[in-house]
Amino acid sequence: MTLHPIEIGEERLDVPVALAPMAGITDAPFRKLAARFGAPYVVSEMVASRELLAERRLSAVRLDVAQDETLAAVQLAGCEAEWMAEAARRVAGNGARIIDINMGCPAKKVTNGYSGSALMRDPDKALSLIEATVGAVDIPVTLKMRLGWDEGTLNAPQIARLAEDAGVTMLVVHGRTRSQLYRGTADWSAVRAVVEAVDIPVLVNGDIVGADAAREALSQSGAAGVMIGRGTQGAPWLAGQVADALQGRALRPAPVGGALCDIVIEHYEGQLACYGEAIGMRSARKHFGWWLAGRPDGAAVRQRVIRNDDPDSVRAELRAYDWPAVQAETQVAA
Ligand SMILES: Cc1cc2nc3c(=O)[nH]c(=O)nc-3n(C[C@H](O)[C@H](O)[C@H](O)COP(=O)(O)O)c2cc1C
Repeated sequence: MTLHPIEIGEERLDVPVALAPMAGITDAPFRKLAARFGAPYVVSEMVASRELLAERRLSAVRLDVAQDETLAAVQLAGCEAEWMAEAARRVAGNGARIIDINMGCPAKKVTNGYSGSALMRDPDKALSLIEATVGAVDIPVTLKMRLGWDEGTLNAPQIARLAEDAGVTMLVVHGRTRSQLYRGTADWSAVRAVVEAVDIPVLVNGDIVGADAAREALSQSGAAGVMIGRGTQGAPWLAGQVADALQGRALRPAPVGGALCDIVIEHYEGQLACYGEAIGMRSARKHFGWWLAGRPDGAAVRQRVIRNDDPDSVRAELRAYDWPAVQAETQVAA
């Protein structure tokens, strides 16, 4: 299976393989790693439009999108058309090349605020937010959503058509409903109804953990490309490797041994620099779990580093660990 380049408005994505937005995970330090390892496209964690307008520090951190060669989008979530429009203008003014609207997040914090996937229950409201965002900026606007709210309302194709008519230039569909949260398995074949409903490119998302799954998801959905989320945890190279595999190229190697240790420490330092020491250390903890998963003595090392709040001794602990010369089983792309 070969992928073809896609147009996202006036932007071109040569290899439609994307790193998914994951709040608290795919932050600027992680996206930088994914970009360096060849992820062709990365999307920021969602930024609440209201928070952004209040200029909270965290949303400023989330907006750091400079990714050199890699195309990057900033994702906005919100429930008021005016906030979305104003936030979109700010983000575009800040140099973003693409804005993605979040209509897939199932989190209560987001759906109670009537944004994220809750918008799928109210297509008129969804459309008003989309139109406001598209109308506010000259850069391409994309939309990420689920199949629908629940089994009884699989309205992604309907929303996809409304979005396309309103000027949205690409869609991402997670093959689950809001009610499923993350349970069950993603239904890639159900994404086909969206692909067939629109002329703009669609990326299929959900449970794609490597190149084989990516091929299967593409074949079942007919989508133009894939978006990969949780599979990249502890494996920021995965999107780059899947892009290689889908182009029929040899996979660029994942770092192992000392090179992996360097990456883990670089990411740790990125977290401290991004959030400051206290929050950075907390944020780094979950990543240590993923970096060390499935590795000899990994659980014990993780316990020690997550309890340690002295960065120098965390670095020393990580340097002292004998990082295996092979990838963990879960982190192999093909
Ligand atoms: C911890 C976590 C945070 C997420 N945050 C976002 C987000 O900010 N915006 C969004 O559109 N989706 C978010 N998602 C959903 C993912 O982008 C993706 O759609 C979902 O995880 C399914 O893909 P996967 O199976 O490859 O992980 C999040 C998922 C997880 C697990």
